[in-house]
Amino acid sequence: MATELGIALLGAGTVGATVARELEVHANRLAARSGGPLVLRRVAEREPGRARELAARGVTIDADAAAAVAAADVDIVVELLGGLEPAGTLLDTALQRGLGVVTANKAVIATAGHRLVAAVRPASGGLAFEAAVGAAIPVLAVLRDSLRGDEVRRITAVINGTTNHILGRLEAGDDFDRAVADAQERGYAEANPTSDLDGHDAAQKLCILAWFAMGAEVRPEQVERRGIRDIDPSDVAAAARLGSVIRLVARAERSEAGLALSVQPTLVPRSGHSLSDLEGADNAIVVESDLAGRVVLRGRGAGAEAAASAVLSDIVAVARARRAGGEVPQAPAAPALVLDGEAAETAAWLRVRVDGSPDASDLVAEALTRGGVVVEQISPGGSDDELAVLTSPATRAALDRSLTALEGLGLPVQVVQRLDRLGATT
Ligand SMILES: NC(=O)c1ccc[n+]([C@@H]2O[C@H](COP(=O)([O-])OP(=O)(O)OC[C@H]3O[C@@H](n4cnc5c(N)ncnc54)[C@H](OP(=O)(O)O)[C@@H]3O)[C@@H](O)[C@H]2O)c1
Repeated sequence: MATELGIALLGAGTVGATVARELEVHANRLAARSGGPLVLRRVAEREPGRARELAARGVTIDADAAAAVAAADVDIVVELLGGLEPAGTLLDTALQRGLGVVTANKAVIATAGHRLVAAVRPASGGLAFEAAVGAAIPVLAVLRDSLRGDEVRRITAVINGTTNHILGRLEAGDDFDRAVADAQERGYAEANPTSDLDGHDAAQKLCILAWFAMGAEVRPEQVERRGIRDIDPSDVAAAARLGSVIRLVARAERSEAGLALSVQPTLVPRSGHSLSDLEGADNAIVVESDLAGRVVLRGRGAGAEAAASAVLSDIVAVARARRAGGEVPQAPAAPALVLDGEAAETAAWLRVRVDGSPDASDLVAEALTRGGVVVEQISPGGSDDELAVLTSPATRAALDRSLTALEGLGLPVQVVQRLDRLGATT
């Protein structure tokens, strides 16, 4: 019989408590799959009372997570605390000690993942973090393993379940505050939902996707990022009149000029688009590559069990690698040229308030065309004083210039909303 591997679980919150339960309930199945017993030996929890049941079953509870990482009876550290610190330092320490490491922490992996991978010790089992992007969706494994003979050109994804749910609630008639409260009540959004609403969470996940899909070593600050705070029910209603929905879309696109990275509230066609019909906290990632064409991965992007599914798979993989005297595979990465957000191209949707004059739409189209932006469609926006303008792809800088020129004409025209736009197949 293979020797036991001891596990230290840092954080027994939403995901951690589920992982602890599964390690116990399905111990035999997990042992069979990982080549020998996995024993939960330590749990780090600030509030030891919360881990009372685990303590009763012989698990050591450490109020100080560093003590769990330093313990001699631990082979694999599973970090489910969240946040940059102390999680980052604890992961560093665990790797330096030659332990196997599993984490679901996108913030740490997006900012320090490359450094952590370089710190992996031989025969430790390595570092795995599938749950950090898309929870239950096995997207990192697919990008690293299944598409490694191909060239990924573009990723287009909805990877933040909280904003997806909030935008869905706006469609159902909630105002913004009510929609956020609903996401919190359902456990999708945290008490402080800033990271979700302002697009930080999606930008971190996008960096990890760009790493695995395109071998690009990029940082969250390089993502052209805008959240959903200024999207209101009137925008959602105007999108619906165009047969579309608004979603927080993360995009990574490679061209000869460089890599464009963005997280933006985006107009998406309601029917026939893989990103428009996602329910609640579901996520979808569309991968486009030279040979495979379009691959769509979708599923539960948040939730205790969805995340635990990926964490447990990683524990099995790290345990197997450790028992075999190796490490789990990593995706290679090198620094990439990231385009300035203004230099990246996107199609756009403009809501333009006009004074009702019959030639307003001609004047708007003319000003945009003069600035180098091609207008694909211009139509009444649902009331006499609003136009819906759909442009072809142009750089954000060109659209800025055109809109400044439009303002300079002194017309009674006001752009009240401007969003990126996806076509049926983009
Ligand atoms: N929830 C999901 O759907 C989901 C999906 C994918 C990935 N993830 C990732 O999984 C990780 C865990 O998320 P979660 O939703 O389980 O978070 P959570 O419910 O807040 O759990 C975190 C736990 O860690 C404890 N903790 C935090 N800092 C600690 C410290 N320094 N020492 C000891 N205990 C500490 C917290 O205790 P306190 O309550 O006292 O702070 C809490 O019990 C995060 O990286 C998250 O991004 C979550």
